[in-house]
Amino acid sequence: MSRKIVVTSALPYANGPIHIGHLVEYLQTDIWVRFQKANGNQCLYFCADDTHGTPIMIKARAEGVEPEELIKKVYAEHTRDFKKFHIEFDNYYSTHSEENKQLSALIFNRLVEKGSIIKGEIEQAYCDGCKMFLPDRFIRGICPKCKAENQYGDSCDACGATYQPTDLIKPACATCGKEPVRKKSIHYFFRLADFQQKLKELMAGGYTGKSVSNKLDEWFAAGLKDWDISRDGPYFGFKIPGEENKFFYVWLDAPIGYIASCKNYCDKNGLDFEKVWNSNEYELYHFIGKDIMYFHALFWPAMLMGSGFKIAKRLFVHGFLTVNGEKMSKSKGTFIKAETYAKYLDPEYLRYYYASKLSGGVEDIDLSLDDFVAKVNSDLIGKLANLASRSAPMLTGKLDSMLGTIDQTGKKLIHQLVAAKEEIISDYENLDYASVIRQVTLLADAANRYVETNKPWDAIKTDKEKTRTILTTILNAAKILTIYLKPVLPIFAEKIEKILNIKPLSFADVEGVLENHKINEYIRLAERVDKDKVQAMIEESKPTQPTPPTEPTQPIQSAPVVQLDEPIAPECTIDDFTKVDLRVAKVVKAEAVEGANKLLHLELDIGGVKKSVFAGIAKAYNPADLVGRLVICVANLQPRTMKFGVSEGMILAAGAGGTDIFILGIDSGAKPGQRVH
Ligand code: MSP
Ligand code: ZN
Repeated sequence: MSRKIVVTSALPYANGPIHIGHLVEYLQTDIWVRFQKANGNQCLYFCADDTHGTPIMIKARAEGVEPEELIKKVYAEHTRDFKKFHIEFDNYYSTHSEENKQLSALIFNRLVEKGSIIKGEIEQAYCDGCKMFLPDRFIRGICPKCKAENQYGDSCDACGATYQPTDLIKPACATCGKEPVRKKSIHYFFRLADFQQKLKELMAGGYTGKSVSNKLDEWFAAGLKDWDISRDGPYFGFKIPGEENKFFYVWLDAPIGYIASCKNYCDKNGLDFEKVWNSNEYELYHFIGKDIMYFHALFWPAMLMGSGFKIAKRLFVHGFLTVNGEKMSKSKGTFIKAETYAKYLDPEYLRYYYASKLSGGVEDIDLSLDDFVAKVNSDLIGKLANLASRSAPMLTGKLDSMLGTIDQTGKKLIHQLVAAKEEIISDYENLDYASVIRQVTLLADAANRYVETNKPWDAIKTDKEKTRTILTTILNAAKILTIYLKPVLPIFAEKIEKILNIKPLSFADVEGVLENHKINEYIRLAERVDKDKVQAMIEESKPTQPTPPTEPTQPIQSAPVVQLDEPIAPECTIDDFTKVDLRVAKVVKAEAVEGANKLLHLELDIGGVKKSVFAGIAKAYNPADLVGRLVICVANLQPRTMKFGVSEGMILAAGAGGTDIFILGIDSGAKPGQRVH
């Protein structure tokens, strides 16, 4: 009997690009969904962008656009990236949708009716400058423990201490720099503790795996607290019914976005939403990362219990990605965007590598770049692709493209491959893709041994029909292994199907043999990974010197007036502008930067204060010519760690780039340190 399944992945925030850390989750889920489909089940995969909350509102402000415009742009980028990695959602929606608004109000109202929502007054940090309450992450100050400057309101990056924003020394609004004040406001709270017993029963019934439920036990032991589900405006989100300036906290409507995505799909496709989302005819599964366990194992099921919705059969939790054994890092170039990866490397290779690492637990998984290159080249190319590339061209070139039959020795090999089917299916079902890859690699070894023993390249010289028999066995072996890997390598599988001239393969085709059948011309299956490409991807992921503003200034003498390559950025207010502290600075030292052909390292004297700055003007100036010259510099730019060191400011220059960059302010009597107005 075919099962009916609904699957979700966590909704990525609409304030940044998809990176290779996110991809752990979307690939893990996509492989499972593709497996279910290939194994004869009906499976629907829903996701959406998570579009609400303060960070998105602030980011839109910083870009000078409305949040709606920002989330539209990010939606296009996210869907583009997912497609590149062959992640196939049945619906990819947005939490900023009519369906989500209505469902959020419905669930909230039901919870109110049940007495699960209460109101209470709290005091929070408020910025008089920005006229808004400040989340912890939007307050900066000096760490009360180690005195490191410019730390967030909830924890210190330097010493790891956690604290309340009120503990910060010299707290300041991260947006405008004003010191926050304390202000009272009424908030709505969800009475999570009322659900403690039911949640415990849910966990006992197998909602999550062992290590996750151990973590939950700690939370239960500590006692569940009321959860603040409202935020005061300005806030980008849904208004709370009956309120003028209060909104649902983003984490209230985000998981409801799963339901909204499903509803939108059902309505578009003439399906009964109640049945698909809420009946027992469909099994529901959520995939998430370990950082958002609290929301999905406690708040979310409790909200559903309280509002009469079905709860997922299981919550699958995965660990975090590390690269070369460490957290992803911008300065090391390992914070790799999906887009950057796809520019240099084949997305299927990452699917293959992650699959070889994922075994269904919450442990972190490591992308070791050397191991990645080795595994793809030796196993995927050397063992799997090789089976087809050593046999198909010989059959098409020398044996009229016709498969023959399989003899006794061939059958032995094929039996061995077929025998692995049930275990592979159960490994997929249990998310143990690492075990699938291990088994397929061992089976590919056995098939390659058959090739080595039977040497078709020798046999062809003396016995064409024997060769046909050998190649028939090898191509049948390749077909079976392709089915086993199809959830991981959908494009590779499509190519094999094309070469073998057959309809799309599924697990039902494992036992069927392909005999006396004409195949197609060989098409190249896969290229080896080139280490240089991996290196180039890392280099591109490292932060670079922000290019100096390239506003076209006065056209020089008779030069033609140039068209704007880049449109002028959105307006900035005079207040924004006066935050930029422009000073006259003298170049004290200038030197080339080894390994960077565009950068010069400058030491500037801003009236007694020294600043070290990296500037992208090496093509235009000889370092020696710069020493002693005056430049205008942004003196209060936050220091940035770049590949070559820390840059503490920025010099202003204009021009087309390359050798045409002009530093303004030739010696003119101005004094270093003087402010420019
Ligand atoms: N918007 C919330 C989820 C709301 S679900 C109702 C969110 N977004 S996220 O963009 O930060 O993360 C989306 C998913 O990607 C999460 O499940 C998260 O665990 C996962 N990952 C994000 N970075 C990751 C790694 N570096 N490694 C593995 N998974 C990671 O959380
Ligand atoms: Zn402010």
